[in-house]
Formats: sequence, C-alpha cells, structure tokens
Amino acid sequence: MANKELAVLILAAGKGTRLKSSLAKVLHSAGGKSLLEHVVRACQPLSAKKTIAVVGYQAEKVAEICTPLGVETVLQQPQNGTGHAMLVAKRAIGSAKYVIVLPGDAPLVRPQTLRALLAKHKSGNAAATILTAVLADPSGYGRILRKSGDTVAGVIEESQLTPEQRELNEINSSMYCFTTAKLWPALAEVKPNNKHREIYLTDAIAILNGKGETVLAEIAADSRETLGCNTRADLAGVDYTFREWKREALMRDGVTMQLPETVVVDSDVTAGEDTVVEAGVQLLGQTRIGSRCVIKTGSILHDMLLGDDVVVEPYCVLAESRLDSDVIVGPFARLRAHTHLKSGARIGNFVEVKKSVVGEGTKAMHLTYLGDAKIGSKTNIGAGTITCNYDGFHKNPTTIGSRVFIGSDSALIAPVKIGDGAYVAAGSTITDNVPADALGIARGRQVNKPGWAGKKRRELSSAGKSGKKKSKKRK
Ligand code: UD1
Ligand code: MG
Repeated sequence: MANKELAVLILAAGKGTRLKSSLAKVLHSAGGKSLLEHVVRACQPLSAKKTIAVVGYQAEKVAEICTPLGVETVLQQPQNGTGHAMLVAKRAIGSAKYVIVLPGDAPLVRPQTLRALLAKHKSGNAAATILTAVLADPSGYGRILRKSGDTVAGVIEESQLTPEQRELNEINSSMYCFTTAKLWPALAEVKPNNKHREIYLTDAIAILNGKGETVLAEIAADSRETLGCNTRADLAGVDYTFREWKREALMRDGVTMQLPETVVVDSDVTAGEDTVVEAGVQLLGQTRIGSRCVIKTGSILHDMLLGDDVVVEPYCVLAESRLDSDVIVGPFARLRAHTHLKSGARIGNFVEVKKSVVGEGTKAMHLTYLGDAKIGSKTNIGAGTITCNYDGFHKNPTTIGSRVFIGSDSALIAPVKIGDGAYVAAGSTITDNVPADALGIARGRQVNKPGWAGKKRRELSSAGKSGKKKSKKRK
C-alpha cells in the first residue's frame, strides 16, 4: 500500500562537469545499469505516494528512464544548485508530510538503509535527518558538523572548510529525510553564498538548527552506500562495489566462484545451487542460470536463459538465447539472438548459431554457421557446414529434420529442406530439397589419372636442371 505521508525526490538535473562527458552524469552506468535506475529501484520498496525526479541537463533522455519506472519529472532550468532543485519540486511534492531526498549520482544505497533513515526521522521527531558515513578519505564531500550526540549543527561544503574542519571525516551523503512543513521556510532563507552562486540544500541544515529544530544524523550501515560519482574514478569504485556485492549474493545462494574478483555479474543475474563460475566470466543483463551448470573461463553471457546441468566451455560469447538442460557449448562458440538449443544438444568450437532451433541431442561440433535454421533431434551437422541464409536481400530459412547426417564442408543454399533421416554427402552445395531418407550429393565426380603425378614431377625437375645450365653459360 502506498505510504501517503511520503514523497521521494531524486536530484538528477546536473550535468556532472567533473566526469568530462557528453552524457549526463545520472545516465552513466555502474553495475550494469544507469546510476539513476539504481536509485529509483532502491527507493521503490518504500512505496512512497510519489517519486519525483528533478531533471535539467539532457532532460528528455533522463525522463526516458524515469517514466517507465513510474517516476514523475520536474524540469529545473537553469540548474542553480541542490536547494534550488528542491524548490522547483515543491509543488510536485505537494502535501506529503515527509520527503526523502536522494542524489541521482549515489547508486549504492539500499532500501533497508532508507527505511532506517525514515524510521529515525519519525521517532526522533526531527525536522531533518541526514544519512552520513565516516570515511577514511572524506575529500570531495560536504562534512557534518555535530552538535551533541545524534544532533547536527550544519553541513559544510568542502570548498568552505576551515583548516581545522578539514579533519572532519563524517560526510554528508546528500540523502535526507525532511519534514516538509519545516523544510520550506528554512529553504526560503538560503542565499547563494558561494562561488558558484548556487542555492545549496546543505545550507538549510544550519538554518533549521538555528531555528531550534532537531536535525539528526543516521550513519549508513555500510559506508559504501553513500558513495557519490563525481569523477570517472568514483564511477569505477562504485561499479567495483556493485560487482563485489553481487558476487557475494550469488555465493550465498550456493554458487561456486573461482577467483571471484575477476568475475563480472550484472545486478539482475540469477544462478542456481552448485553452479560453478570460473575465472574471467561475465554474466550480463537478464541472464538466468539453472543449477549445477559450469561456466568456464573467459565466457560472456548476455541475456541468456540456461536450464540445469549446462556446460559452457571456455571463451564462448552467448547472447539472447536459450539453452535447455544438459546442453554443452564451446569452447569458442558464438550464439546470437533467438537461438534455442534443446536438451542434450552440443555446439562445438568455432560454431556460430543465429536465430535457430537445434533439436534434442543434435550436434554441430566444428567450424559451422547455422542461421535461420530449424533442426530436428539427433542430427549430426558435419564440420564446416554453412547455412547460406542470406541472398543479398533477404534472410531465408533452412529446415533440417531429425536423424539427418550433413557431411562436412556442405553449403545449404536457403531456402532449402532436408528431410528426416537424409544424408548430405560431404562437400555438397545443396540448392534443392533432399527428401527423407535420401542421399543428396552435389559436387563434381572424382577422376583419378594413374601416373600423372610422377610424370609431372619428372617434367618439372628436368626443366629445372636445364634452366640452371643455361644460367651458368650466360656467366
Ligand atoms: C552534494 C552535497 C555535498 C554531499 C555530496 C554527496 C550540496 C551543495 N552538496 O555535493 O554536501 O557531500 O552531494 O555526494 O548539496 N543537482 C540538481 N540540480 C542542481 C545541482 C545538482 O539536480 O542544480 C543534482 C545532480 O544532478 C546530482 C545531485 O544533485 O545528482 C548532487 O549534485 P552534485 O553536483 O553531485 O553535488 P556534490 O558536489 O557532489
Ligand atoms: Mg555528487
């Protein structure tokens, strides 16, 4: 049920100058998703009545992420600071009693931490509660000036720190819970007293404290949750943490990992018990892996669906395809979109499969291209078989039945059908359908010429000798 008292405001209007990028900061990715999407997903479990994003720089692109996730957008133009962003959203926040404010560039925050922030704010009857963290290296962040115990006197931006205040290592995450009735009057008093002439939301904290209101601090359960992304190095650090957390979660779910620090896993990936992931593997997008699978070193899986007991041998590149249970692929195999390998199928080295169905127990073990093909069960596709699916204008289908034997180095010129139980002779170029149980052979007949090679050798060697004599004479 929606929490009628609560609104969430995500600050996502800034350009992110320090990233030196043509892409708005919140659209940059870490852990396989945009920073903004992570933030939205973290606050969704709070069931706020409304979630609003303040957009500005590349507003349309940013809105493309917000709208499908049910986030309303408010335009801030120009971007005059975090406090100004709040003021722009005042009408959208409307009558909500509390507002949780989140920067769009701090994607590691977790739902339970936001719940704890809200709980502390309510139980402490505060005007503002700030999520903070104590960092070994607090540089780049605003610092918390404590009053006593849990209460806060103010937030001081890094550029405004006195030499003594530089020692402060509790930072402002820029995540807050405010009681709106207390926030708005305080924010109205904030002046752009800084070198950028911006209205800083952080200045509202000292004003609230000056009015005798309670400002609390909630220290994040894991300090990494507060990390913001101002620079490319920050982005890499946040990405690193996402990957680490995800690997830990998979291992808790019963997945074995070899050299886990070398494995890259996106946040939505799942894997079943006793699956083994070897070093240097990447599991990306919406990949879902069953139980007892083995994904061997160097393989990259993107948006893949794997049943149980699947083996992916080393160095395979697999995308947008489905492997049923007991399939083996690779090493060095490539599967492209809309491929379905049915139970027990085997795809070997240097085989590429695109938009094809490979039936149960069917094998294509070496150096083959299968595109737009539908293949039955227990068929053998010989080494070097090519489905010639493209005529320069259209993609054409190849249909191969069950228990078919395609001899090595055959070219099947689509559209073409090979019936159940048929044979195709090695080296054939098949342009016509082959009926069930027939042999299709389409190649020049072999001719042996007895003695031809010996005669040729003698001719060539005597021509060589006479050539040498001639060159001597010339000297
Ligand atoms: C801010 C805080 C700082 C805190 C840090 C945590 C202020 C003044 N400072 O600094 O105390 O330690 O976050 O990461 O708030 N944004 C807008 N409109 C604007 C300006 C910014 O929507 O006019 C958005 C940005 O897109 C970004 C977020 O607000 O997502 C924070 O802005 P940023 O410029 O990164 O602030 P920091 O300098 O990191
Ligand atoms: Mg920032």
